Amino acid sequence: MMAERLRLGVNIDHVATVRNARGGALPDPVRAAHLAIKAGADGITAHLREDRRHIRDEDMARFAAELTKPLNFEMAATDEMMALAERFRPHAACLVPEKREERTTEGGLDVVGQQAQLAPRIARLKAAGCRVSLFIEPDEAPIAVAAKLGAPVVELHTGSWCHAVADGDAAKAEAEFQRLKSGAAYAAGLGIEVHAGHGLDYATARKLAAVPAFAEFNIGHFLIGEAIFVGLEAAITAMRQAMDEGRAAI
Ligand code: PXP
Repeated sequence: MMAERLRLGVNIDHVATVRNARGGALPDPVRAAHLAIKAGADGITAHLREDRRHIRDEDMARFAAELTKPLNFEMAATDEMMALAERFRPHAACLVPEKREERTTEGGLDVVGQQAQLAPRIARLKAAGCRVSLFIEPDEAPIAVAAKLGAPVVELHTGSWCHAVADGDAAKAEAEFQRLKSGAAYAAGLGIEVHAGHGLDYATARKLAAVPAFAEFNIGHFLIGEAIFVGLEAAITAMRQAMDEGRAAI
């Protein structure tokens, strides 16, 4: 049986990181988003962080106004970001944990410990028309809470697996892969749409694409890095091909 086509969301945060290194307007993340869509991205992902270290409010306003494919707004569940989501009304809102001192999003959202605070925020985002996704570790406890909270989507954090692969720790990598595989099957069995993201490259995306429960990958840092060498369109085309090859192997 042919599994459903896997969607690719391209995270363009790090185009803004390069822009902000110099100040000014270049390179423009909105131009990158248009190019990513032309190259086959099914959606654009952007994380407006509390410290505005990459994407800024004016970028979000332009994404919301201009993009021809769905916008996935990654956000901390803070009052400030809730107000911005209600203003921009993106297609999807992905709730992520955020610590000011971290280099990137480390670990999934503590949905088990924060259920009481998350429940009204999820309801507000749904009322604003956003498809709510929770960025969580691939374990049964947070997935079960996501289902209880009525989240239509979970995004499973692939960081532990990708780091183990990069470190050449084969035993840990295999264990983390199995954790993702069973987490995805568990979530899909509860009727939740399953996404994945963090640290994916061509090889890890190809391998994970063979897990039928996944519907979407969100990939940023690797693609923007590859774009330096081969260009953004070629990097996205190669990623699309890797994902299609992985999925065809099912
Ligand atoms: N998905 C989520 C929820 C994230 O927070 C991130 C990192 O911002 C990504 C996907 C993309 O990760 P990467 O940039 O490592 O591909």
